[in-house]
Amino acid sequence: MNELITVRKLNREYKTGDLTVRALDNISLSIGRGEFVSIIGQSGSGKSTLMNILGCLDRQSSGEYILLGTDVSSLGEKQLAYLRSRVIGFVFQSFNLIPSLNALQNVELPLIYRRIPRKQRIYAAEKALDMVGLSSRKKHRPSELSGGQQQRTAIARAIAGDPGLLLADEPTGSLDKAAGENVLSIINDLNGKGVTVVMITHDSSIAARAKRSIKISDGRIIS
Ligand SMILES: Nc1ncnc2c1ncn2[C@@H]1O[C@H](COP(=O)(O)OP(=O)(O)O)[C@@H](O)[C@H]1O
Ligand SMILES: [Mg+2]
Repeated sequence: MNELITVRKLNREYKTGDLTVRALDNISLSIGRGEFVSIIGQSGSGKSTLMNILGCLDRQSSGEYILLGTDVSSLGEKQLAYLRSRVIGFVFQSFNLIPSLNALQNVELPLIYRRIPRKQRIYAAEKALDMVGLSSRKKHRPSELSGGQQQRTAIARAIAGDPGLLLADEPTGSLDKAAGENVLSIINDLNGKGVTVVMITHDSSIAARAKRSIKISDGRIIS
């Protein structure tokens, strides 16, 4: 089986008072192992809603989501947490680093939650920081790093546990062009090493960096 992700007729509705917003409308797609796919659409088109479901952070209202051959809706909270911590790495637009921890400690944190022994953890965290070119900044706190360096730290945190799937929601959205380029080239290198990448963006020049683009508008796939 070469498919990592299969989504069939996925719907997600948000109910707020009397108002129902259909954020995802009958989405079907599949993503193979090792692919680099971008999901592009305007603000409000449903990109983050889709990524949150793919990342097992949220559930669909109806339809199917199969990850690694498993119907995600059949899983309980423990199994979802397992997928989120072992299989999926997340990168967000707003880095989401912990301000009081230095870069190395931020990268180590998910490995602490996984109870990985200290030596092994530091080895993995240092290797991840090296991969994003930040070995010399490991003792710096987020406030002592540029935006691009913070996002690279966030990527190191996402990959330190060797996930097979990287989900990136507007990873260059808060960065200038040069820093964004750097982040994209790191994401591209990770894909070259076999990590499946799903990258969300509203920018067509960034979407074009992926090998395949899925365009969504008003919660629907339009191409
Ligand atoms: N928690 C929520 N409650 C109600 N509506 C929401 C919620 N999250 C998103 N929406 C709505 O769903 C639609 C898609 O949002 P979102 O997935 O965040 O789009 P994008 O990431 O493409 O900007 C929008 O109309 C948005 O207002
Ligand atoms: Mg969004």
